[in-house]
Amino acid sequence: MKTANQDIKPITTKINKNGNIEIGGCDLVELANQYGTPLYVYDEATIRAITKSYKDAFKTYPKISMMFAAKAFMTKAICKIMDEEGFGLDLCSGGEIFTAKSAGFDMSKTLFNGNNKSFDELNLAISSGVKTISVDNFFELALLNDIAQSNNKTVRILLRITPGIECHTHEYIQTGHLDSKFGFDLTQVDEAIDLIQEEYSNLNLVGLHAHIGSQIFEKQVYYDEIGVIFKEIKRIKDKYGIILKEVNLGGGLGIKYTEDDKPISVYEIAQTIIESIENHSKEYDIEEPYIFIEPGRSVVGTAGVTLYTAGSSKTVPNGRTYQAVDGGMSDNARPSLYQAKYTADIANNPNGEKDTKVTIAGRHCESGDILAKDIMLPEIEEGDTICFYTTGAYGYSMSSNYNRVLKPAAVLVNNGKSDIIINRQTYEQLIQSDVIPDRLN
Ligand code: LLP
Repeated sequence: MKTANQDIKPITTKINKNGNIEIGGCDLVELANQYGTPLYVYDEATIRAITKSYKDAFKTYPKISMMFAAKAFMTKAICKIMDEEGFGLDLCSGGEIFTAKSAGFDMSKTLFNGNNKSFDELNLAISSGVKTISVDNFFELALLNDIAQSNNKTVRILLRITPGIECHTHEYIQTGHLDSKFGFDLTQVDEAIDLIQEEYSNLNLVGLHAHIGSQIFEKQVYYDEIGVIFKEIKRIKDKYGIILKEVNLGGGLGIKYTEDDKPISVYEIAQTIIESIENHSKEYDIEEPYIFIEPGRSVVGTAGVTLYTAGSSKTVPNGRTYQAVDGGMSDNARPSLYQAKYTADIANNPNGEKDTKVTIAGRHCESGDILAKDIMLPEIEEGDTICFYTTGAYGYSMSSNYNRVLKPAAVLVNNGKSDIIINRQTYEQLIQSDVIPDRLN
């Protein structure tokens, strides 16, 4: 069965009676007028459809929890939706822990990941009731044990390992290969276990964690990842008599940014994971563990679009036509960071013939601030509302104030209603952390 991550557009996308694109029953041109641009628009129905697909796809393996990787897009409203859909949260910073807690999220459904968690962040995780901490390295083992000891607590931990699996995605978002900054190499696991057993009595090792990368289109890497982890669980059982009952497989399922992308469905990935769990549990004679998965991009990526207003344009004599918009690398760093490609439409002219080659340029003082190079669109007129699809993941979450450009607002649309979930930043907020030392006054 097809799932929402396999389409470029949110599931409710239509052309309405005004001849404009609508999402979640809301006319994108009206949204642009009402809230201003750039504007992130999130389709609630698409988010909920994908979370339901995950739950449905794994229903034959009930020993599983879906933990939304908050780094893909986190606001308090998203925490509420994830809670309602029965998802937990994979958190990776003090800021994410604080946001979840402020949203009233059930912290017993959270995990904490990261390769350099600070003393303050680990303390916050413990005092906030984060359920499990995935420990990434020796430094953190010692630090966490100290903190747990001074809080008089025992902390449930997973060991993050690098399974040595390469997936075919952009180098910057590969994580599971051996030469990676994340996790323990398999050759270091015994030393970590020895330390936990002999010195770190406030740490309770319950399982292993791995994450092989992001924007993955292949099934086999998940099959293999489980093989590597289960083999390790068997080895630890034989050597130490320790039975690790929990396994976190990370996230990574890809989405469709352009027609060239062919991501697999949530059902396909679930089937591969379940098959691999069954086969490898038998092969290594271990009990089927409790599984966590941490999808981020596939949960919110397709649901989100960004609206821009077309401004100035320039045609280089005998060269490219650049059409500038009122956002760019500050609201979507992915094109300049990863050469990521996107699909766009003109929201007020969706049926126009796409016969004009154009490069959509951002408004920042940087030549590399190009949102889409040489794409085909109907001829753009000043004031048109340009809609970029699949910006729901790692767009807002990687946004910046480069050039002191304000961060856009985000709205959640559903059944013809739109609600602000992030207010547009104001100039006052922009300067609120700035301090002029007395001697400069
Ligand atoms: N779990 C861990 C430990 C992770 O590091 C990540 C993502 C995820 C889960 C979620 O992966 P997802 O399902 O979203 O692929 N900024 C990059 C993506 C970086 C991903 C970092 N880790 C981008 O925009 O493509």
